[in-house]
Amino acid sequence: MPTKTPWDDGSLCYGGDWNPEQWPPDVWHEDVALMRAAGVNLVTVGVFAWSRLEPEPGRYTLDWLDDVLDLLHAAGIRAALATPTASPPPWFSLRHPDALPVTADGVRLTHGSRDTYCAAAPAYRAAARSIAEVLAARYAHHPALALWHVHNEYGTTCHCPRTEAAFRRWLTTRYGDLDALNDAWVTSFWSQHYSDWAQVGTPRATQYLANPGQLLDFRRFWSDTLLSAYTEQRDLLRAANPAVPVTTNYVLGDWVPVDHARWAREVDLVAIDHYPSATDLGAEEQTAFAADLARGWARHGAGRPVPWLLMESAPNQIHTAGRMHTKEPGRMTRHSLAHVARGSAGVMFFQWRAPAGGAERFHSAVVSHAGADTRVFRKAADLGAALGRLAGTAPGRVQAAVAIAYDAASGWALRHPGMPRDALDHPGEAAAVHRALWHAGVTADVVPPGAPLDGCRLLVLPALYLASDATVDWVRRHVHDGGHLLVTWLSGVADEHARVRLGGYPGAYRDLLGVRVEQFHPLADDEHVPLSGGGTGRIWSETVHPAGAETISAYAGGVLDGRPAITRNRVGDAYAWYVSTRPDDDTYRRLLTEAAGLAGVAPACPGAPSGVEAVRRQDGLLYLLNHTDRPQRVPAAGLDLLTGATVDGELTVAPGGVAVVREEIP
Ligand code: GAL
Repeated sequence: MPTKTPWDDGSLCYGGDWNPEQWPPDVWHEDVALMRAAGVNLVTVGVFAWSRLEPEPGRYTLDWLDDVLDLLHAAGIRAALATPTASPPPWFSLRHPDALPVTADGVRLTHGSRDTYCAAAPAYRAAARSIAEVLAARYAHHPALALWHVHNEYGTTCHCPRTEAAFRRWLTTRYGDLDALNDAWVTSFWSQHYSDWAQVGTPRATQYLANPGQLLDFRRFWSDTLLSAYTEQRDLLRAANPAVPVTTNYVLGDWVPVDHARWAREVDLVAIDHYPSATDLGAEEQTAFAADLARGWARHGAGRPVPWLLMESAPNQIHTAGRMHTKEPGRMTRHSLAHVARGSAGVMFFQWRAPAGGAERFHSAVVSHAGADTRVFRKAADLGAALGRLAGTAPGRVQAAVAIAYDAASGWALRHPGMPRDALDHPGEAAAVHRALWHAGVTADVVPPGAPLDGCRLLVLPALYLASDATVDWVRRHVHDGGHLLVTWLSGVADEHARVRLGGYPGAYRDLLGVRVEQFHPLADDEHVPLSGGGTGRIWSETVHPAGAETISAYAGGVLDGRPAITRNRVGDAYAWYVSTRPDDDTYRRLLTEAAGLAGVAPACPGAPSGVEAVRRQDGLLYLLNHTDRPQRVPAAGLDLLTGATVDGELTVAPGGVAVVREEIP
């Protein structure tokens, strides 16, 4: 088991990306002094420093990095040392033009930004291994080294001839023979039958809709290709010193480039980069969802629990469509501690010091263009002190008895342009369910299909479009073991190849749910269908025939007037719910509160007022985050770790503030 990590001594990690290669040494000294003042104990170094480390092929200039690591060590700060392979230098691209990536339209990209490489190109892979080996040989036993940070946010794509050949090899392994591939991709449609492997390519730009099976397998193949680029670096770093953990940071957001659950098996720590896109309460909702996703990958993806860490976040401004939005006072602390509450081993920012130039010169930083005499720096120092007070508490297990299933491949499959409605979105549906539960005060785990469901009373499948036989068995086992189930529209419609399961939707779960869906009725963007009992449905509706289930809510108006919209089927002592439309937020919250209540699941802190997020952990900690601009009173008893005050039955959480109570166990 890797040792020497900051959290092994009970501390939470605190710091961010630091780029000394952009500054002269006197700034390094100033930075390290400021880091100490802010309570920083871990910095990510070298992420995009390839051209400084290897200015010419095979000529390495590492003295500056020696000095940087020694300086950090002398200051008691650990390093997450990155391999710089996300940004090959210009010399590499000029030398290996065939290692530049090709878009689906056949355009070969040029150097000029970052990430301009094809991960299937042997020249790129060899160069990446070489620089990683050089770093491993030099620093694997450096006392400052806490963690290897491989690459940055794997997620680029490519359609070059090398990628095409690699795709064919991957398909050969997956299917064995062409008949199986033809069957999985249903190539009898539109004369796509393949009679030779040489005819099979990547889904490049084509005349009209591409084959859904081909698109889906390409995404799986590419995720595996990027993963092998990661694991070959990991293996050589690990070989140099098995005691040092290795990871890579996951990119989150609308773009889901790889199957993060599958990747979790290969990392010693799940690291996420999280930048909420919303500026209102949506930012807090997104934060909670991202943290619960990361926890699920760390706990269930790996087959063995590993820690997880917020590896990048914005210390100040949030990127939004068209502008940067400055975080209100208190928000940075709340966002940071919301991750810690949900199990993060600490808080890391992108970035420590804002550069004077370069493409991201206006990205927020702890040390901004104005220097350190700023609100953001003072708040960062306060956060460092708060994390210091929480030393010894990380990373704790979160109490949750609801699980939301999340599956990258279902998200990819729903993006196919031939679906009955555009903008179908499995991650978005998972987030909508999570949001509804979050507003109800109910904590949820977000788990990959197949994850152990011990302790889970209610399993939710949110537009979990793909259902392999293994996934269907997993769901059945949960219900037959007495667990409750809530399935939303579009779940279980197709198998793992995106082939529709026939006989009425949702083919995988009809009998469990006691319904048969005859037909979809997608709604227009501005269409809302009233539901009996209040509320409306949006985006989607269906002709649902009950086959044993009772109707909880019916469509009230339109072509489906009087037909079931939400149903409930009794299976043993549990319920299996079916939701055939997207309820509005209030209706969804009420529905999920009821489903959770019937499953015996209560809010994390039943007395917490609206606007106060509560997370209860198995280590006896209760995190309370006040997202309102008024003081809020919450029932609690114990010790407030942030203030040292005894809490005797009730606690007032300041406007925008956070409390962490070590509860008295009665
Ligand atoms: C991350 C990336 C960083 C930086 C940051 C800006 O996704 O890893 O390098 O670009 O976004 O928000």
